Amino acid sequence: MTAPLAELAARANELRRQIRRANYQYYVLDQPEISDREYDLMFRELRDIEGAHPELRTPDSPTLRVGAPPQSQLAKHEHLVPMLSLANAFNDDELREWEERLKRLVDDAIARDGYTAELKIDGAAVSLTYENGVLVTGSTRGNGRIGEEVTPNLRTVRDVPLRLDTDDPPRLVEIRGEVYMPFDRFERLNEARVAAEEPVFANPRNAAAGSLRQLDPGITAQRPLRFFGYAVSAPRNVELPFATQWELLDTLVQWGVPVEPHRTKCASLGDVIAFVETVESRVRAELNFGIDGVVVKVNSLALEDELGTIGGREPRWAIARKFAPDIAETRLLAIEVNVGRTGVVTPFAMLEPVDIGGAVVRLATLHNEDYIRAKDLRVGDWVQVKRAGEVIPQVIGPIPERRTGDEKAWHMPKRCPRCNTPLEREEEEAGVYCPNVACPGRQLEGLVHFASRGAMDIRGLSYARIQQLIETGLVRDAADLFTLRAEQLVPLEGFGEKSAENLIAALEEAKTRPLSRLINALGIRHVGTAAAQLLARQFCTLDDLADATAEQIGAVRGIGDIIARSVESYFDNHTTTKLIEKLRKAGVNFTEPRAATAGSSLAGATVVITGTLPTMSRTEATELVESQGGHVVNSVSKSTTFLVAGMDAGSKLAKAQALGIEVIDEAELLRRMGQQP
Ligand code: IVH
Repeated sequence: MTAPLAELAARANELRRQIRRANYQYYVLDQPEISDREYDLMFRELRDIEGAHPELRTPDSPTLRVGAPPQSQLAKHEHLVPMLSLANAFNDDELREWEERLKRLVDDAIARDGYTAELKIDGAAVSLTYENGVLVTGSTRGNGRIGEEVTPNLRTVRDVPLRLDTDDPPRLVEIRGEVYMPFDRFERLNEARVAAEEPVFANPRNAAAGSLRQLDPGITAQRPLRFFGYAVSAPRNVELPFATQWELLDTLVQWGVPVEPHRTKCASLGDVIAFVETVESRVRAELNFGIDGVVVKVNSLALEDELGTIGGREPRWAIARKFAPDIAETRLLAIEVNVGRTGVVTPFAMLEPVDIGGAVVRLATLHNEDYIRAKDLRVGDWVQVKRAGEVIPQVIGPIPERRTGDEKAWHMPKRCPRCNTPLEREEEEAGVYCPNVACPGRQLEGLVHFASRGAMDIRGLSYARIQQLIETGLVRDAADLFTLRAEQLVPLEGFGEKSAENLIAALEEAKTRPLSRLINALGIRHVGTAAAQLLARQFCTLDDLADATAEQIGAVRGIGDIIARSVESYFDNHTTTKLIEKLRKAGVNFTEPRAATAGSSLAGATVVITGTLPTMSRTEATELVESQGGHVVNSVSKSTTFLVAGMDAGSKLAKAQALGIEVIDEAELLRRMGQQP
């Protein structure tokens, strides 16, 4: 049943009004009041109504143009070729429908060059005009046909090349891309604005757009803006040196334009869907900038021409596969603290439950007291909360405009909430910790860490089960796990015979893990995966490590003083000695297999390391590569064997890509050295 026409007409009018208002807030004020998703859904509903009933379309309908009219104070710039918007797909079926439509137009021609998939950077779209390789104009998108000229502002963005790095530049091109603000810099900017009593930016995208449209480029220059390029347009009579989108991106890199490194070439839509899944579930959480989807493009540029646009607004040859939104607003009901496995006390936020991307969020991490202070978070505040992939939700910051005056500042308790021991603060550290090794708070978190995937990897031993085992008195420390018997588990709630046996089998298997896993699992302060590997390789048995002095431990390459002292004091403790004897009696392996550590897996390799690696410091990574016979140098050249790139990798990554040098991540590096990532 479709609604009567009058009802549809009224609905279309209402949608137009709301979309116009949202456009104004977004493009002119840089202060959106609704989420992107709400906007997309309204836009789509309006387009569908107008599509089914063209008589209801008004000449000023927002569906007929892209974005908002350019604002008056800045000079106007007419784009050589219009800057298009993108149609959205909210799920894989909508992607498949898109491909079906393409196939109806060009049969199987896409199969030859496939697709490219790129991250959809959540920033402000800009167009950079280069004449004979020199930047002459930079502008915002505006309404797609006419943008605002912000050349002096764009010149201050350090990623934007003032001259293309080529001897043979095209006579005239417009390079399109996105100006964005990295998360960490955005947070710092907002902190500074709070201190200066200036209004904070709602999100990094608004901060980027607002910074770009300053009348004084001096202000833009102080804002931490970055740029990624993703498209090139030129007048018909200018020849460009590429035939596919993939080659276009490579050419941009050669010209010195930064291109987001996670792009991939996909032979089929199946590959695209797999890429989207990896990005949404894993990559997104690791990025230091916002993305709101993956842009899928038909790779062949000749096919792009053939497919053309829909009403001059959206190309047929590209689509944005959007992610579920990951930011929501809710109330901060209380701040409580949790005692971690190493005794570190971390505050966390108790939130009014809120749905973010399909999951209900009640808790969010707050890191430490300084973090709460820096953000000026108060109990009772309305806050913005972000949940990306599987990471613990984060509180981005308060919404000061919504304060009533009843909000309360928060202070760290002086005593441990679990065992009442006075908390201690270590020099130079932001956090406080409970020094009591037997603190029940430490016990639970310690066991959770012990059983976790990077440690002893005990399958089936979830957080809730560990809690249950502690509560029923069956387990007090890690060693107790290994003396459990199936018949003790079966009567417990949630266990059956099969699951009890499975857990016992998983525990049996865990006893054989190499020493490096066990060292990590013990939860010694400051000792993570990388340090545990170095220690296991050096000392070979747990007993030799336990007997070592801080001096001997500190002599291991890659192990500093703080770790050395922490390890010594961990083993120099009665509780630890008892635990180790119990583990030995239970039959847990205390040795490291020697084979994989022979130390020559990278013999002769010249390696460059850039960006922030997920688990290792630059020094640790260097030590590891060198311990395997590799040689670490600072700059990329033709003789580089491979580049290890982490987060925020910059010019070295671009150079490696331009030279065709292999680029790998930390996990692959560990794999090549015969270690588990
Ligand atoms: S292609 C016709 N590629 O998303 C092709 N756009 O919602 C249009 N965006 O206006 C641009 N990352 O501001 C393209 N890798 C990417 C992108 C991207 C972000 C933005 C761009 C565009 C908007 C469309």
